[in-house]
Amino acid sequence: MIFKKINLLVSFIKTSYNYLLHKEVKPKYLFYGQLQKKREKDMLDAVNSQIDKFKSKKNNETFIFVEIGSYLGESLKLFGNRIGNELENFLLISIDPYSEFLDKNDKESEENLVNQTKTTYLMNKRISKIYNYFINNVSNYHFKHKHFHLRMTSDDAFKLLKSFNIKLDFCYVDGLHYYQNIKNDYLNYSTILKNESNYSGLICGDDYEFSFDQYNKYFDYSKEDFLAILNQNKTKDYIFLKTKAGINKKNKIGFHPGLTLFFNEIDGKIKRFDSGFWKKIS
Ligand SMILES: C[S@@+](CC[C@H](N)C(=O)[O-])C[C@H]1O[C@@H](n2cnc3c(N)ncnc32)[C@H](O)[C@@H]1O
Repeated sequence: MIFKKINLLVSFIKTSYNYLLHKEVKPKYLFYGQLQKKREKDMLDAVNSQIDKFKSKKNNETFIFVEIGSYLGESLKLFGNRIGNELENFLLISIDPYSEFLDKNDKESEENLVNQTKTTYLMNKRISKIYNYFINNVSNYHFKHKHFHLRMTSDDAFKLLKSFNIKLDFCYVDGLHYYQNIKNDYLNYSTILKNESNYSGLICGDDYEFSFDQYNKYFDYSKEDFLAILNQNKTKDYIFLKTKAGINKKNKIGFHPGLTLFFNEIDGKIKRFDSGFWKKIS
């Protein structure tokens, strides 16, 4: 416990020092370092394969990348570096309101904040600072001249991009994970992917840990009960459910119910990876 506290303090001091020097910051105390190797690989495989398709069919055009939910810019850095290494003409658009979204007059957003996990709650409390760290970090990356940020919700950014008739090669969805948000993001952004006879853009994302068809293997619930649980938790970010005996030591599994429910509704269109990464099957 004491070592953990010391580590977090060291991370805070390092971050503040590097920020003053306008260097990249990696604040572990703000949950920097969430990209695990397995997920990183799945993300890179997906973007590599899209770049290959783009190179063979569209090489004289601009590769348009969109990320919904950027936080400290870790996934943007991963994708941006890879795209920047492979292509000359590209544009990276990140979308994140960096807002606590606690509007006292907005009952729904107040309810959402209460329903968040402690980690998400802490992230949101410090979101303005995180926005400054994000901008600081991006301005340290090679792709900085081919990037812009839309500080707004994905719903509003969608309307803006659509009004300019912008069509996407690659869209990475990692914003809000509530049922209604993942549904909006998926359905909205799917309509502005490039879609031609010989080439189409890709939509993919993060945090799809548990697919509906696994319920049987992990839980004692009936199909109807499991569906009811998902429906009751549409406005929850993350939930834990008790597993069957012998499944794991903790006897519980945590996952984002919004993704499990929505992807069950559009059955068969999504490939889920063990890392939680997902992509639309073309
Ligand atoms: C899980 S974090 C993103 C992590 C990032 N993709 C990474 O891997 O480094 C989710 C982000 O979604 C953002 N967010 C919250 N509401 C949003 C909305 N309505 N539209 C887009 N992004 C939103 C939060 O501010 C937060 O930074």
